[in-house]
Amino acid sequence: MVLFTALLINTAIALATASLYWDGRVPQTMTESDLDSSIGPYLTVVKGSEDASHYTTLLGTDSTPTPLWSSVVSEQVVSLTITNSSIFVPGGSTPQNGFRRTDLIAQGNGSNSALDAIMEVGVSKFYFSVQENEHLPLNYSHEYQIVFIEPSDGTHVFELQLGTPFSNPSTTELAADARFLKVRDHALNLLFETPFTAGQWHNFAVQVDWKNLTLQVFYSTGGAELVAVTSVAPNPTAAIGSAGQGDFHAALLKLPLVDPSEPATEQNDVAHYGIQEGTTEGLFYSGLFVEQVLV
Ligand SMILES: *[C@@H]1O[C@H](CO)[C@@H](O)[C@H](O)[C@H]1NC(C)=O
Ligand SMILES: *[C@@H]1O[C@H](CO)[C@@H](O)[C@H](O)[C@H]1NC(C)=O
Ligand SMILES: *[C@@H]1O[C@H](CO)[C@@H](O)[C@H](O)[C@H]1NC(C)=O
Ligand SMILES: *[C@@H]1O[C@H](CO)[C@@H](O)[C@H](O)[C@H]1NC(C)=O
Repeated sequence: MVLFTALLINTAIALATASLYWDGRVPQTMTESDLDSSIGPYLTVVKGSEDASHYTTLLGTDSTPTPLWSSVVSEQVVSLTITNSSIFVPGGSTPQNGFRRTDLIAQGNGSNSALDAIMEVGVSKFYFSVQENEHLPLNYSHEYQIVFIEPSDGTHVFELQLGTPFSNPSTTELAADARFLKVRDHALNLLFETPFTAGQWHNFAVQVDWKNLTLQVFYSTGGAELVAVTSVAPNPTAAIGSAGQGDFHAALLKLPLVDPSEPATEQNDVAHYGIQEGTTEGLFYSGLFVEQVLV
């Protein structure tokens, strides 16, 4: 089911919203050295060889976060960048030469997995806002995965995606909706898409029912209130229970294009093979938090 912008769904059953499970809105007191030490709401280990603050910067009072929550909190815009050195090497494992990535992973009391077990039960709502970094543009010939919940099998409960989806063989031709922000479900079906217009915040919330396995997407721009842009959609391929729980990432994760000179058996291994131009690129984030939804 594909639903385009500004489709207002009458949510007949009003869901009462309760407590905040996790708040990733970066306070003005947080510093880049906190980022380097993974102190605060984010685990910052998924990145290239430099310090976390080489890739992720906090913009202080110089930059305006989404106006949606400015009456509630004073937060800093978070700037995520990738460079050609943004090759993540998972502990003792093969470098991810196919990707360029900088990820922020939600954590509580210094633990991402403990937080997942707390916030990924019942019904919970994941909030995030993104804005283009016009000085460090993305390359829309590539696929980018920019917000997702990743269980240990590497799938995504849902994801926010940009660009031209990875395909083998690759083409440098842009997908018609390459410059659209796309919310996809666990099976990568498109639930909602909207143009990634410049110079404004794009606000999202995705409500996840962890037991009934459904998703509902909410969206707005700037300071406008979030509205439901899909109905409650089934997400049946996601797993129930702890196998379905995973880390909540805000990421600049750039997939490669296929390099036809590499062995055919490796060409679909996007984490380790393929073409990257090595460009420096960026995105802005704010308004990240997770709420419990009482039903
Ligand atoms: C963090 O610690 C507090 C106090 O012990 C506890 O209530 C909370 O559930 C913990 N959160 C996580 C994510 O472990
Ligand atoms: C974007 O990626 C394509 C595919 O690799 C490449 O041909 C093109 O030169 C890149 N553009 C920039 C500006 O790096
Ligand atoms: C979950 O599904 C059950 C059975 O279909 C239904 O009664 C219940 O209302 C659903 N819960 C939510 C939150 O939609
Ligand atoms: C990017 O890094 C890769 C891997 O280290 C290297 O092979 C490649 O030459 C670099 N590209 C540029 C443009 O620096």
